[in-house]
Amino acid sequence: MYKIIDLEVKGGDSGSLISLEQNKNIPFDIKRVYYIFDTKLGVTRGFHAHKKLKQVIICVSGSCEIMLDNGFDKVNIILNDPSKGILIESKIWREISNFSKDCVIVVVTDALYDKDDYIRNYEDFLKIVRR
Ligand code: TYD
Repeated sequence: MYKIIDLEVKGGDSGSLISLEQNKNIPFDIKRVYYIFDTKLGVTRGFHAHKKLKQVIICVSGSCEIMLDNGFDKVNIILNDPSKGILIESKIWREISNFSKDCVIVVVTDALYDKDDYIRNYEDFLKIVRR
């Protein structure tokens, strides 16, 4: 359903640094990067799957919780470590909640934004993955 990518932490006495490189620690050509921050208290986001898109999600500050669902099983993962990437393939439903005030999520994807790649209706999602 997902894979954890260990991101090597560089840096020394001055602090830490992680670099994301396409087809190195990120297992695809990087087409887009976006970040989610300043999420209001109690909000749950996501509620979609992608038809084709692959992505790696990294919580670079604070914490949140992600629920992943392949139409058969569900898992909950706590994201609170900037050195762990979560690789999510297409056709996985996700809901992200319990954002801390300082939570920043970086999302690295293999495609430009395309609203037609979204499956936003859960019943449609189940039909697609179960057929
Ligand atoms: P949305 O997908 O609704 O966010 P979430 O699923 O995390 O709740 O995206 C919020 C808005 O941002 C929506 O108007 C679409 C827009 N958007 C872009 O323009 N480009 C992007 O790369 C993404 C991810 C969203």
